[in-house]
Amino acid sequence: MLVPGKVRLMGEVEVSSSKNAILPILAASLLSDETKIIKNVPDIRDVTVITELIQYLGVKVDYRDRSLHFSGGAVRETPPYELVRLIRASFLVMGPLLAKKGSVRVSLPGGCAIGTRPIDLHLKGFEALGASINVTGGDVIAKANQLYGNHVYLDYPSVGATENIMMAASLAQGTTYIENAALEPEIVDLANFMNSMGARITGAGSNVIKIEGVEKLSSTDYSPIPDRIEAGTYMVAAAATAGDIIIKNIIPEHLKAVTAKLLESNAIVEENNGHIRVYRQQDIKPVYIKTQPYPGFPTDMQAQFMAYLSLARGSSVITESVFENRFMHVAELLRMGAKIKTEGRTAIIKGCRELTGARVRATDLRAGAALMIAGLTARGSTNIMNSEHIDRGYENIVAKLNGLGANIRRV
Ligand code: EPZ
Repeated sequence: MLVPGKVRLMGEVEVSSSKNAILPILAASLLSDETKIIKNVPDIRDVTVITELIQYLGVKVDYRDRSLHFSGGAVRETPPYELVRLIRASFLVMGPLLAKKGSVRVSLPGGCAIGTRPIDLHLKGFEALGASINVTGGDVIAKANQLYGNHVYLDYPSVGATENIMMAASLAQGTTYIENAALEPEIVDLANFMNSMGARITGAGSNVIKIEGVEKLSSTDYSPIPDRIEAGTYMVAAAATAGDIIIKNIIPEHLKAVTAKLLESNAIVEENNGHIRVYRQQDIKPVYIKTQPYPGFPTDMQAQFMAYLSLARGSSVITESVFENRFMHVAELLRMGAKIKTEGRTAIIKGCRELTGARVRATDLRAGAALMIAGLTARGSTNIMNSEHIDRGYENIVAKLNGLGANIRRV
């Protein structure tokens, strides 16, 4: 992907539905055998992979006018390895299959670019609900003739574990409490989707979620929330390029931490009826950032902000407290002339006057987005290799950025 530099993004852009809401919602569709319609589904690879996985399990899926139509239930409980290894979110089918089929077999995650990403908290939750867990030959097998409600304390507010346990508990006998649950908006959206099928979940968005098990779930017609990380990425891109853009289809409440740090760095963020305007007319001020579970500063915005702060007047500090290895983009930014020093989970970014275009490599989708932002500001063009990572989670990102004045080409 070739990104010409010295661009100032101007105009309007529309955010797509949230990847990280839709992936668990697709998994939760396995909890019911009736017809479900999920609307405004973005055309991104992670969604395609999970949809293929659900079809492999036996569910009939049609994709028409950006909606997914599901009918019928799963007849298999072992997703194919070649699909599971493609994205970690495949794990999210464990809870639904365990609850619906009484048994599920999934291959354990390969490592990925941002860390080992274990699933111990997912399995701890399934065991608490009465499942037996066995790990053999790189696979994890969970079995339970009947799941029973229980108290589950999460050692860490894991998004995926909260989602998986919530889905398994929805068809258990009795009531489950998930304590120290994740608070992300995608958890609330999943609970709303499941409740629209007849689940009885309260407390999503707080750190104690109560799930009263029900006999079965039925049909629904649902539109997921907008993608707060896609929105945040365009906000940072506008600030980095000293542009002026309006972002539509956004829930400002979901972006408070990103907005706060943009304001601290001298960008301007104006909210009015469902959209946000971002522009910058003064020098970028350095800021301190520590990524945290929601509502703290999102780890999925860390790389994009690092690209932006590479141009600040002074030194910023970013601490990545969620993942143990999410600085893969640093080496690539250094190739563009950024001045960054990392020490464990902390990076010190000494701002410079400008970056220079280079040949760089995307290691994960957020690192790829960071390199696009850096490239748009740089002197000269930037050639981003492995840019397919970016397409995993950003619908039509080239068209959307070119609509704002960029002139990006796929090579
Ligand atoms: C979700 O991943 C998101 N993915 C990630 O977005 C996001 O970065 C992450 O939450 C944190 O917000 C989806 O929603 C599909 P976690 P998830 O379980 O569920 C440790 C993107 O760019 N942990 O909250 O995998 C884990 O190692 C992606 O869109 C355990 O130790 O995140 C990590 O250090 C990247 N044991 C921390 O918790 C477990 O059983 C956060 O992981 C589970 C997690």
